[in-house]
Amino acid sequence: MNRPYVICHMVTSVDGKVTGEFLRRPECESATEIYYEINREYKEQGSGGFICGRVTMEESFTGGFYPDLSGYRPVARECGHYMNCWFDKTLEANYFAIAFDPKGRLGWQSNVIEDSDPGYGGAAIIEVLTEQVDPRYLAYLEEKEISYCFAGESEIDVPLALETLSLHLKPAFYLLEGGSIVNGHLLRADCVDELSLVQAPLTAGNDGKPLFSGGDIRSFELTRAESKKDCLVLNYKKK
Ligand SMILES: NC(=O)c1ccc[n+]([C@@H]2O[C@H](COP(=O)([O-])OP(=O)(O)OC[C@H]3O[C@@H](n4cnc5c(N)ncnc54)[C@H](OP(=O)(O)O)[C@@H]3O)[C@@H](O)[C@H]2O)c1
Repeated sequence: MNRPYVICHMVTSVDGKVTGEFLRRPECESATEIYYEINREYKEQGSGGFICGRVTMEESFTGGFYPDLSGYRPVARECGHYMNCWFDKTLEANYFAIAFDPKGRLGWQSNVIEDSDPGYGGAAIIEVLTEQVDPRYLAYLEEKEISYCFAGESEIDVPLALETLSLHLKPAFYLLEGGSIVNGHLLRADCVDELSLVQAPLTAGNDGKPLFSGGDIRSFELTRAESKKDCLVLNYKKK
């Protein structure tokens, strides 16, 4: 399979959680700063951007906005399937925000990420969808000139999604930046090649989700372990 290399880049608590209140605590600030710093370093090294689940994209970028689709004409299926749609601007870009959004629930205001952090701002948005999508949502994406592709009937077929990205886009590697659910999907599909973790010096308690939701057993080799501002910066490569 021709797919890009995937580095899962996350902040974790010492008890291995990636969601919850601990992320908003002052003790987690250094870890978050280091995390964004490393994200920008990866961009300088040629990262093709970041893959995130629908919930993370909503929390970080769309704020839960959803468009009124009543004025959009449904895009038709061809030969029983929806077709992928690639805009030239996307194909020419080299930095992407790839949303795993099976039902098409993200309301984007523009076709690039608007963020002051150069590790995120300007990234060209790509929607990875399934056949569950409302066909009017496709018309909405087309109006915004947001490229989209399909991978699966109801659940995103991870290898197919990554292969499709490889087929159309230049980057050789992407960061997988959560949350727990999307990370779990990629791990189970054996599509996580490397881990880049910033471990914050606090526990998360019961409400946090693990690094990989519904995980699996995979082996990694530790290639970096460094302490920085009370945090641990860790890197593992798949064995
Ligand atoms: N610690 C960190 O570094 C870090 C980084 C990023 C995010 N986060 C945290 O993570 C939290 C969100 O994580 P989460 O685990 O709840 O959600 P998530 O992984 O961000 O998004 C999950 C959703 O993505 C869609 N999805 C992803 N892969 C799919 C697949 N293969 N097939 C079908 N659907 C797929 C589904 O959308 P539908 O529900 O629409 O079906 C699923 O419910 C946020 O609160 C954020 O704070 C932490």
